[in-house]
Amino acid sequence: MVLGKRIADYLNIEAHPVDHRVFPDGESYIRFMYPMEGETAIIVQTTSPPQDTHLMQLYMMAATAEDLGAEKVICVVPYLAYARQDKRFLEGESLSLEIILRLLENVGASHLIVIDVHNANSLKKIQKNRRISIKNLSAIPVLADYIKHQGYSGAYSLGPDKGAIHLAKMGGQVLNGGFSYFEKRRDRRTGEIEMVAKDLDIEGRDAVVFDDIVSSGGTMARAVAELKAQGARHIAAACTHALFQGGAENRIREAGVDAIIATDSIQTKYSYVSIAVLIADYIRKIIK
Ligand code: R5P
Repeated sequence: MVLGKRIADYLNIEAHPVDHRVFPDGESYIRFMYPMEGETAIIVQTTSPPQDTHLMQLYMMAATAEDLGAEKVICVVPYLAYARQDKRFLEGESLSLEIILRLLENVGASHLIVIDVHNANSLKKIQKNRRISIKNLSAIPVLADYIKHQGYSGAYSLGPDKGAIHLAKMGGQVLNGGFSYFEKRRDRRTGEIEMVAKDLDIEGRDAVVFDDIVSSGGTMARAVAELKAQGARHIAAACTHALFQGGAENRIREAGVDAIIATDSIQTKYSYVSIAVLIADYIRKIIK
């Protein structure tokens, strides 16, 4: 994985590839090619689609590292799948975020590092009952800094929904052009979203929409279209985790975006910003 190698380079340690494959029936095979006894294992595995396969591989790597005698098992999971189901929105729903954390802890992970998890407060609450040490870092300052140098200094920062206001705020601190958010309502049964846009003083100004995840692109496209309708000049779409499912890219482009910028949490053609330094700096604190 590109990110794993980058993190290793910043830590000045060797990156060891893992022998892995997926059999035709979908089962994964994992083999470490390096002795683990007494080592700190840093496992870098983002859990983008296919999430279940990537998660199973993560569990297998953490369990095997522990089994082979690793002293610490640090799991770096920049995009943490299933984090959006962090509470029971409808009666009887499965609390998937909690299940993922419980499983990781049980297979031997001592630390988990995630980036811009969907809801940091929910993660904090769930973390209280767990032994595993969890750290959520944000890529927004580095993303915003990159965008600033692409001609967006002084641009307005926007969160496409209330849950993204902290992202817009962080972006705003770097871009220095003010920040706000739109309201988004999601029908929990159909998944349909409705965006309630505020009137912003955006006529002739540049704007950047910051979000944690772009999946179908629906949320980002609506925010971009609304900014366009309100007279914004140049609009950039920035996200930490570019899942880009089912035509997301076209959806955002058709809405009138001028630039799409993401991190290497998931490697895409829009991974202009690396989160490797951010992660390496935090790992240094754990292993010092
Ligand atoms: C949800 O609240 C997240 O922060 C993102 O806005 C959402 O997951 C994006 O999903 P999509 O791209 O499918 O609209």
